[in-house]
Amino acid sequence: MIEIKDITKTYGSGDTAFQALKGISFTIKDGEFIAIMGPSGSGKSTLMHILGCLDTLTTGTYFLDGKDVSTLTDEELAEIRRLHVGFVFQSFNLLPRTTVMRNVMLPLIYAGVSDEERDERSRKVLSAAGMTESHFSHLSNQLSGGQIQRVAIARALVNDPSLILADEPTGNLDSKTGEIVLGTFQKLNREHGRTVILITHEHDVAEHAERIITLRDGVVVTDSKSHARKHAKHHEV
Ligand SMILES: Nc1ncnc2c1ncn2[C@@H]1O[C@H](COP(=O)(O)OP(=O)(O)O)[C@@H](O)[C@H]1O
Ligand SMILES: [Mg+2]
Repeated sequence: MIEIKDITKTYGSGDTAFQALKGISFTIKDGEFIAIMGPSGSGKSTLMHILGCLDTLTTGTYFLDGKDVSTLTDEELAEIRRLHVGFVFQSFNLLPRTTVMRNVMLPLIYAGVSDEERDERSRKVLSAAGMTESHFSHLSNQLSGGQIQRVAIARALVNDPSLILADEPTGNLDSKTGEIVLGTFQKLNREHGRTVILITHEHDVAEHAERIITLRDGVVVTDSKSHARKHAKHHEV
């Protein structure tokens, strides 16, 4: 469970200081599927980095599973990221000139999982994300946009995370591939009980979640149930 209270984030200092988050509070229960929506520059990625323990807040409190994140050591934060959080970044961040398999197993190498188990788990999540076996040994720079996104999702799932954070995961996809990706998140949430936080600037994408939090200029402007909840027609996993 995530509980944030009055969090702010200021980048830089002095004359160039910029407050990207201006006092944000909400609670997310285990197993919820939430969209964080807002126009470009509203603070979505900043918030995701804080929720994923990739960056620290300036003021306020963040309790993750009952622990005050500001009291955790760097090692403890790294362990949370490695074992409990799956990230799908806006810019995919696949290693270039590196095979699909190796890109996906990277989090497991960091987590110290054995060779054999790494191989097995990577194959499983790649198939689940809709990649065909013949592509597993391709280099990341030989893939299409849709394939890159599937590999990025497979990598986010390979450590079996309880929390999935996805930053604009459908931003560069055609609508059919986008539906498959959203359906995959819905299935992970519904059938596998994962907490999913989906960041998007598109209303149509946000409506695939159960609840929508809207940000504007670093503050929450609405937080409510998704009234016209959409169910993706396609999914793979
Ligand atoms: N590292 C940084 N240094 C300074 N300003 C930043 C940094 N990262 C983001 N910002 C600023 O903070 C605001 C929010 O950015 P961001 O969280 O990326 O928004 P969003 O993801 O909603 O587009 C923007 O005005 C952006 O320019
Ligand atoms: Mg962003």
